[in-house]
Amino acid sequence: MEKTEKIDHVNLVREVLMRVDAKRTEEITRAINELLEEGEIVGIGEVPIRMRISCPHCGKTYEKRPDEDDIKKIKEIETLKPAYYYPAQELKYPNGERFYTYRPGTESVDKLFTRRNLIALSILRHEILNLKVKNEIKRALLLCFASILYECSKMKRREAGSWGEKNYVIRPNFLELNVLHVFNNRFNRIIEGKREANELKGTGLFLCNDARKLPLKDNSVDYVFTDPEYGESIQYYELSYMASCWLGFESDWKNEIVVNPKQGKDVYEYRRMLVEAFKEIYRVLKPGKYMTVTFHNREIKYWNALMYAILNAGFEYVDAIYQMPQREYTNWLYARNPGEMRGDVYITFRKPVEERKIEDIDFIKLQKIIRNIIVPEGKRIILLHGGFATYEQLARGITLELLRRGLLHSEEIESLNLERIFDDYFERVKGKGKVWTLKKRDWNKIHDIDYIPLDRRIYWLIYATFEEKGQVVKLDDILSKIFTSLKNAKTPEHKEILDVLKEIAEPIKKNERPYWKLKQYYIPELAEFEKPEIPKVKEKLKLEDLDHDRIIAELARLGKSFGFEIWIGEPERRKNPALEKYATMKTLKITSISRTTRDRLRNVDVIWWKPEQIFLIEVENTTNPRDGIIRMANIMEAKEINAELITIIPDSRLNELRKCYEEPAIKKLLSGLTVRYLTYSKLMSSIDYVDNLNEFLEMCNKIKFQ
Ligand SMILES: C[S@@+](CC[C@H](N)C(=O)[O-])C[C@H]1O[C@@H](n2cnc3c(N)ncnc32)[C@H](O)[C@@H]1O
Repeated sequence: MEKTEKIDHVNLVREVLMRVDAKRTEEITRAINELLEEGEIVGIGEVPIRMRISCPHCGKTYEKRPDEDDIKKIKEIETLKPAYYYPAQELKYPNGERFYTYRPGTESVDKLFTRRNLIALSILRHEILNLKVKNEIKRALLLCFASILYECSKMKRREAGSWGEKNYVIRPNFLELNVLHVFNNRFNRIIEGKREANELKGTGLFLCNDARKLPLKDNSVDYVFTDPEYGESIQYYELSYMASCWLGFESDWKNEIVVNPKQGKDVYEYRRMLVEAFKEIYRVLKPGKYMTVTFHNREIKYWNALMYAILNAGFEYVDAIYQMPQREYTNWLYARNPGEMRGDVYITFRKPVEERKIEDIDFIKLQKIIRNIIVPEGKRIILLHGGFATYEQLARGITLELLRRGLLHSEEIESLNLERIFDDYFERVKGKGKVWTLKKRDWNKIHDIDYIPLDRRIYWLIYATFEEKGQVVKLDDILSKIFTSLKNAKTPEHKEILDVLKEIAEPIKKNERPYWKLKQYYIPELAEFEKPEIPKVKEKLKLEDLDHDRIIAELARLGKSFGFEIWIGEPERRKNPALEKYATMKTLKITSISRTTRDRLRNVDVIWWKPEQIFLIEVENTTNPRDGIIRMANIMEAKEINAELITIIPDSRLNELRKCYEEPAIKKLLSGLTVRYLTYSKLMSSIDYVDNLNEFLEMCNKIKFQ
């Protein structure tokens, strides 16, 4: 090959691809590297395009294009070699195989750094190791050193957080940060952390140990929190190899609990190793005490392996919760492409006091699980998300449901192919990738009032935050309300929240800080005047009517689950015949009452009836809550029945209701009575967790009128 002509990288790759099998990228890269090394071709290498300088006198920073002197200096540095140790180990296992997550350009640890940073890091490491200080100080400095390696490597990119990728990867545009600056900054943060840790009472024992062989006594530990590897999603040992090489640690590959074909570990090996680890935890935990496991994987087979290991060790399942990651929680608004949810599930188990015999898992027919659990749950999730659900949303909800029902560890589940099930039972939306909707015949059976979509729930929760905190609130307040109310399968994604939030509120700045302010139209007192000018009013009113009927349907379901007969108001049923199926009483069974009282009762939105206990429930929406209160008070005035009164109110009208209860005439009407009220948002956030009537009543706000 002639060396006279310059060829850039893109054209070089094109040239090479024309000559070899395009699939063999690894070989191609190796070939190119060999050619570069042998001088057959000349690489242009890395070209600095911008630099940031901070002035030591005024402290200001500014950016500039590198000038001739800068380039000369960089070139000079390129010719130097680190004087002290630096890791040049190849990213390979001891058997000589390349890492499972290998990407071209990252053949060895030193290749992850620019020459300048390699030199700076090797000096820094040398200086730390040669300090005449206590070992613990040296260790803290080495911790700081290890924690800056990624920042100081060529993997660092502009505006990218720490290690966003699951492998070693160098992008064409990267940043070279100043090692000393990064070290100093990190050092200060570590000091802060150490101070905070020192203020905490208690002691800690840090073990660098195989989780399957703990140097701890039987029944000696009070609580375990553990975060095992998630199947094959992240290769933690590979990722820690860079730091291990700098610090001189051996990587204990054979003990890594992971799925990795290159290490010869399949899902069964992973499961076997997890069984050993969880048996060890079981041994050291005190009986009756708890263990929380955090896990994230979209594939059932890994969940299956995890649950199999935990239950086989002897643990009992207690509860599970889905949690959005903190980083996304705070950054979500600024994410240009919010993408998929990457939260974790936290599952709590208990070591039983009485050792129980591990029963053989019941033989459960897979078809039954699919038909009775997976498909109905999938339908609920699709409806919840307004008719369309992604693979992530479906898989998360279904996994949690299987977990709750104690089925996730069963052998039948292991080979479950969720995607295929979704394709069989739901309709894949064309051109949208992994998104499903219901089949047409299922849509025909469903009415709008049979479910409450997530966006309405989010809407009420946002409103509730404004009600509680005033018309200007922090995003954090809104998010924490939503994430503490809509749990597990219902946890919404960024976009879903943002869509609703933008409709009701607008971002503003107060004292240079971002807040959200309720739009004028959505402030009920002002709404009366604003309505005619808003084009979407009709749609909004229709939606509020629908909410009203949906809440009636939910209350009917709930009352029935508490063992009540259900009455649904005649006007409601007339307006929306779909409500008919939720009523279990077609005629009022309440006897020995006057005609007037009967007529009034017929108009009550929902009645929960048992011979010994009656609840009159009014569901408010756009109308003034006073009407419902007066209707219920009139019924009680006749003293013919003994009933309890509940008002369900949209979050946006809560203040109106409270004001109503303050009115002297209403107070008089209700004297001697106890009324309860509940907002839409509170009803929605707790309805799935209420097991009995008492729990429901405790959830309601209660006022006793003298
Ligand atoms: C999901 S990560 C935990 C991350 C950790 N919670 C954190 O925030 O840094 C799983 C960890 O398990 C470790 N691991 C894998 N096999 C292990 C074993 N046999 N004993 C102890 N730890 C192991 C991996 O090195 C990895 O750091």
